[in-house]
Amino acid sequence: MDGVTVIDHPLVQHKLTIMRDKETSTAGFRQLLREIATLLCYEVTRDLELSLTEIETPLETMQAPMLTGKKLVFASVLRAGNGLLEGMLDLVPSARVAHVGLYRDPKTLTAVEYYFKAPDDIADRLTIVVDPMLATANSAVAAVERLKERGAKELRFVCLLAAPEGVERFRGEHPDVPIYTAAIDRQLNEKGYIVPGLGDAGDRMYGTK
Ligand code: PRP
Ligand code: URA
Repeated sequence: MDGVTVIDHPLVQHKLTIMRDKETSTAGFRQLLREIATLLCYEVTRDLELSLTEIETPLETMQAPMLTGKKLVFASVLRAGNGLLEGMLDLVPSARVAHVGLYRDPKTLTAVEYYFKAPDDIADRLTIVVDPMLATANSAVAAVERLKERGAKELRFVCLLAAPEGVERFRGEHPDVPIYTAAIDRQLNEKGYIVPGLGDAGDRMYGTK
C-alpha cells in the first residue's frame, strides 16, 4: 500500500513473534521492544541525507560521509511509545524528544490527552512519531495533529503492529505521513484490540492491567 512500509527483516519478525507470545515476561517484552526499535529506526532513517566531510584517519586524510540533513525529533506517544523511544535513542542519542500523553477511553476508544511537551525547533526537524500499536488510529491521528499544531512539518510514524482499519484511517487523515510497521494484522476485535495482536502494549511493558 502507498505510504506504508512493512519491515519484514527476519530479526524483526522473530522478535515480534516472541513478543506476541502471552508467556513472554514483562522484562522480556520490554527488552525485545527496545531491540526491535533499533531495527525499525535503521529502516526509518535509511534515506537521511549525508555529505562528505574531511577527516584525518591515523593514516591519511579522507572525505567521509556524515549526516548533514535535518536533525531528528522522536515523538513518543505515552506510555507504550517509550518502549520504542529507548531503542531509537540508542541509535540516535543526539535526537530531541517530544512526549504526547494520550490514553484510549475504553468505552469510546477516543484518545484523551493528558500531557504534551515538544522541542521549540520542531518545525526545522524531521519528527519520527513512535507508538507500538496502531489500532483504531485515534491515538496516532491525535498525536500527529497535535505535533503539526506545534509546528512539525515533516513526520513519519513508526509502530510495531497495525490493524488494516487503523492504517486506512491514518492514511486518510494524514496522507503526508508515511507509516513504518513490523506487521499488519488481520483486524480489530469488538473492543478495538488488534487480533491476533500482542495484547495491551503498555500493560505488557509495565506489568499493569
Ligand atoms: C495504546 C497504544 C496506542 C493506542 C492505540 O495506548 O500504545 O497509543 O492504544 O490504539 P488506537 O489506535 O485505537 O488509538 P493506551 O491508550 O492503551 O495507553 P498506554 O500506552 O498508556 O497503555
Ligand atoms: N492498544 C494496545 O495496546 N493493543 C491493542 O491491541 C490495541 C490498542
